[in-house]
Amino acid sequence: MQALILVGGEGTRLRPLTSTMPKPVVPLVGQPFITYMLEWLRSHGVDDVVLACGFLPDALVAVLGNGEELGIRLRYVVEPEPLGTGGALKHAEELLDERFFMLNGDVLTDVDLTAQLALHDRAGARGTLALVAVDDPSAYGLVPLAADGAVREFREKPGPEELIDTNLINAGAYILERELLAGMPSRGTNFSIERDVFPRLVGHGLYGYEADAYWLDIGTPARYLQATYDILEGNVQTEVGARLAAAGMRLIDGAEIDGRVAAPAVIAAGCRIGTHATVGGRSVLGRGVTVDEGAHVEGSVLLDGATVGARSSVRGSILGPRSRVGERCQLDAGVVLGQGVELGAHNTLTAGARIFPGVHLPDGAIQF
Ligand code: GDD
Ligand code: MG
Repeated sequence: MQALILVGGEGTRLRPLTSTMPKPVVPLVGQPFITYMLEWLRSHGVDDVVLACGFLPDALVAVLGNGEELGIRLRYVVEPEPLGTGGALKHAEELLDERFFMLNGDVLTDVDLTAQLALHDRAGARGTLALVAVDDPSAYGLVPLAADGAVREFREKPGPEELIDTNLINAGAYILERELLAGMPSRGTNFSIERDVFPRLVGHGLYGYEADAYWLDIGTPARYLQATYDILEGNVQTEVGARLAAAGMRLIDGAEIDGRVAAPAVIAAGCRIGTHATVGGRSVLGRGVTVDEGAHVEGSVLLDGATVGARSSVRGSILGPRSRVGERCQLDAGVVLGQGVELGAHNTLTAGARIFPGVHLPDGAIQF
């Protein structure tokens, strides 16, 4: 089975992490985000993936190559300029099979695609959308269903005055028959599958599969941390989550540990944790991360080569690659440091402060 994944968005809401790398390769619990999608697809029989890129995918190609390591055939299609979700599909038409999955490239989920496919077959559908229930559906595509599973309406991000009686949203995972492409705007046109295609398909073979599954759009730092915690706690089914559980909730790959590691935690090779330092309770350390004496790291992600100075505390925060936190700093509640940021000693950052790549702050510069 084949899948087309849309990875053309710029990921602006995830800055400063995405200032230096595209969203699909941002590491999530030790592996590029997109590999979670690839593992999930593979577990449902997908062996051929086309990545629809809105701009040059150098960083993606460098990390994923032709997919050999993942056991999937990977191909890249690059739009001359971003063509929207519909335009991206049409642009990839030549490579597509008679039937394929189409996916938004920014969701972490374990939706049962095999069951979705069975429903698609049973209904004789031309298109079947995975749907999930969420508390606040307004930021998504709303999709009320009829009793027989047919889509009654597709309304992308309705305004506050438009009342739609459902909490089912488009999860960004579709099964489509290739013949549908014949009825779409021509190749090279910028259009939206959510606004320009799905509403018109209502009543013409468009079905919904209501999934009872984990689902999260990882578009913001808060959601990125949530996704991290959910993988560590096994709230979403992933391969790394299974390995972590099998290892007693601490996966430590050749680190030098004098302090303490509290579960759940994933610690990559080459990390150093100093005496009386504590790391864990939902933390992830990338390769070569240093946490100095007496420092405390909790509920945080420290990407490759990040360092935390002695007696500093880092909670609920994300430290970009090779960022450095000086001694006796406090980072709390959603702080994000971009790649290579250097914080001098005695800085206090909180409440979602985002420091952009390469910025250097002197000792005691910020005290929130
Ligand atoms: N190739 C390509 N070209 N990909 C694109 C383009 C483009 O021009 N524009 C967006 N994408 C990709 C994004 O990278 C993302 O993976 C996916 O298409 C969806 O775009 P988003 O910008 O993330 O849309 P959204 O999150 O606001 O809304 C969509 O996802 C929701 C679920 O997360 C819609 O599909 C909603 O209906 C849905 O509920
Ligand atoms: Mg999105």
